[in-house]
Amino acid sequence: MSDQIRPPAYSPISKWIHWITALCVLGIIPGGIIMTNMDEGPLQNQIYDMHRSFGVVVFVLALARVTARRMFGTPAPLETLTPLERRASVAVHHSLMALIILMPLIGWLMTSAYRVDVSVFGLFTLPHLMPKSEPIFDALAAAHKWLGLLMAALILSHIGAAIMHTFIKRDGVLQRMLPSGRG
Ligand code: HEM
Ligand code: HEM
Repeated sequence: MSDQIRPPAYSPISKWIHWITALCVLGIIPGGIIMTNMDEGPLQNQIYDMHRSFGVVVFVLALARVTARRMFGTPAPLETLTPLERRASVAVHHSLMALIILMPLIGWLMTSAYRVDVSVFGLFTLPHLMPKSEPIFDALAAAHKWLGLLMAALILSHIGAAIMHTFIKRDGVLQRMLPSGRG
């Protein structure tokens, strides 16, 4: 992932992709935990369909985001960040970028291994990526679960950092990701 280009601010497209992804992921993770722990039935099936559909949206936006990062770059970290904060934020951002690509891919693979269709909002169906296999489904479902929980922990620390920068350091980190904000 190249961060060679250093624009003064996040591009409007990067900001919108960030916030739409954030909304989707903040629904997908609790939705995933709820649907796997509820009684079987039509409501559970609907939540599964929504989970998979919004997961596909996150995947498409992640590919668009990688393209946007390559085209427009990301702004340099603010001067107010300590060396530790810089390293931590880069590590969390890169891990989240990897996870918004990996999680939907694992979800799609495991759904294929279970031989269930991935119907995207009932509009079209994705092709199966692999033949039916229960052991592969089990392994992928475990990876999807633990990476999902890791992702939740990273997001909590990411949101915690945004709150800390807004209310304690007051150094404008959140403002530069807001659609109205500047670099
Ligand atoms: C950013 C995207 C995604 C995130 C963060 C995510 C997260 C999660 C989480 C946290 C769970 C609950 C795991 C558990 O408690 O066992 C789950 C379950 C599940 N997800 Fe996803 N998911 C994403 C995308 C997808 C996609 C795109 C698909 C399919 C195309 C998918 C298919 C499933 C399925 C089938 C389950 C239930 C697994 C089982 O029954 O054991 N997910 N997901
Ligand atoms: C309420 C939730 C969230 C808040 C308040 C928030 C806030 C922010 C802020 C302020 C930045 C800019 C940091 C900087 O300039 O150094 C940022 C960047 C970033 N955020 Fe979030 N975020 C949220 C949710 C998420 C979620 C759910 C994800 C992904 C799953 C995510 C992924 C990223 C990534 C990858 C970056 C790096 C910038 C980029 O290349 O797009 N964020 N976030």
